[in-house]
Amino acid sequence: MNATQEQLKLKLTQALVAAFGTDYTNTDPILVAASNPKFGDYQANVALSLSKKLGKQPRIIAGEIVSKLDVSDICEPPEIAGPGFINLKLQTSYLEAQLNAIQVDSRLGIPTATNPQKQIVDFSSPNIAKEMHVGHLRSTIIGDSISRILKFCGHDVLRLNHVGDWGTQFGMLITYLREVYPEALTTANALDIGDLVNFYRKAKQRFDEDAVFQETSRQEVVRLQAGAEDTLHAWKLLCEQSRQEFQIIYDLLNIELIERGESFYNPLLPKVVEALAATGLLESSQGAKCVFLDGFTNREGNPLPLIVQKTDGGYNYATTDLAALGYRIQEDKAKRIVYVTDEGQSNHFTQFFQVARKANWIPDDVELVHVPFGLVLGEDGKKFKTRSGDTVRLRDLLDEAINRARADIENRLQEDGRTETEEFMQNVAEVVGISAVKYADLSQNRTSSYVFSYDKMLSLKGNTAPYLLYAYVRIQGISRQGNIDFTNLGINRQILLKEDAELTLAKHLLQLDEVIKEVEQDLLPNRLCDYLYQLSDKFNKFYENCPVLKSEEPARTSRLMLCDLTAKTLKLGLSLLGIKVLERM
Ligand code: ARG
Repeated sequence: MNATQEQLKLKLTQALVAAFGTDYTNTDPILVAASNPKFGDYQANVALSLSKKLGKQPRIIAGEIVSKLDVSDICEPPEIAGPGFINLKLQTSYLEAQLNAIQVDSRLGIPTATNPQKQIVDFSSPNIAKEMHVGHLRSTIIGDSISRILKFCGHDVLRLNHVGDWGTQFGMLITYLREVYPEALTTANALDIGDLVNFYRKAKQRFDEDAVFQETSRQEVVRLQAGAEDTLHAWKLLCEQSRQEFQIIYDLLNIELIERGESFYNPLLPKVVEALAATGLLESSQGAKCVFLDGFTNREGNPLPLIVQKTDGGYNYATTDLAALGYRIQEDKAKRIVYVTDEGQSNHFTQFFQVARKANWIPDDVELVHVPFGLVLGEDGKKFKTRSGDTVRLRDLLDEAINRARADIENRLQEDGRTETEEFMQNVAEVVGISAVKYADLSQNRTSSYVFSYDKMLSLKGNTAPYLLYAYVRIQGISRQGNIDFTNLGINRQILLKEDAELTLAKHLLQLDEVIKEVEQDLLPNRLCDYLYQLSDKFNKFYENCPVLKSEEPARTSRLMLCDLTAKTLKLGLSLLGIKVLERM
């Protein structure tokens, strides 16, 4: 709900109380956006719901409310329609005043949260020596956008990369490293073993075929746990090489993250198990320590346990998450913890959240949220793969998007007979290519799977990054063409709304605060994408219908101001999606 709606709601409540008494202080006036612009902007449906209670016809009730309702500073005189709807239409002068006010504000009139909080967003989180795959790409893009929006709302946001940098697989990797690159372990140099994913595959092969290798690997795990220096050194080398590979992706995507991997919590794991034991929740099942879960059963219909310590003494993914949770609540003082992973992990999160709640570890003022997302599909509707059936390397995926954007710009320049510098073309290609990938992901409701299509995401038409970027460029073009300095439009500048297209654009511009509030709550960035897409669309309609540079004053300046406010809104909105704008493209 935006500020205008809140005011209207308040005034409606006051009218209800004035008409029917203090019993109605908490009655919801049921204020909703009008279903059709010809009925105005909002409608209050409370009269219909009170009919039984008051024993009157809704139209009569609506009349009594309206007779006490004073919205003369915001709306045209209210109208009663149909069975008893109260229709409210915003006054043009009210809209103009709102726009003139936000237009000079760097936050475009969007207030910061009334209760700023420490919030943690746990996202990206790839695994060392394994492929960073499209699932991690989604987590990275969605998590980054959510972090930006929460920060803009005024929260103190900690962006954590819960890297998978610990576990038994390191025994095998280190054993293999000693076997094939013994020299790497004795020099101080960084490791260069080429493709880590390939390395992982080969290590796994050795592990599977050789019993001696398996035993050595197990001993390496024990040595790693015990902190043996040479084993730790090898572990660090492996992590470092992975980290460098991940960083290439983060740099391309302009992502900032603080790495706090699973290994960070390793020393805390025994305490987690002890603390669980102290709550009496811990049970032994075939030598493993576990907590039985409500609402989860195995195939035989028996209660399902969450294992926190295996028979061999080792710990699980969930144990680490329980430790991390404790740390984040107690040390980081987080009040909201958001986990961005594919929906395949939904059970994992429900389960360890449940265990933490049962153990009474979650204070009432702490909120845990799993933000799940669907799969990335190829254009054939199956899991996204390369033509030869391999998983797509993220590096290749992003490069391909940039290369295609580059081909597009070269084509466009040729068609227009324009020439531009190499630097210009490359910058446009990089911004457009990366934005297209991000936007294609963010514009989908994240809970559904989405089809990855370079052609669609790079198209200048439709709900795409290039379409939005182009609307922004168009506005900058107006300023270049008319030699306009948007920051200096004269002292008497005023937004004045006459044409329908101006009013439609104006009303949309005033809805950004509502959209951002929604995303702050439900963490669905696609709502912001929808908003920006509609904004571009409404701007384009305005621009087709209302001449800007060629119109007379005062309309000319007013329209330039609408252009500028649209550009500022696009720029802000896109920045919250992690997308940069271009002045020309
Ligand atoms: N490393 C995990 C994976 O690649 C994701 C970790 C998500 N965060 C967490 N706290 N469990 O699937």
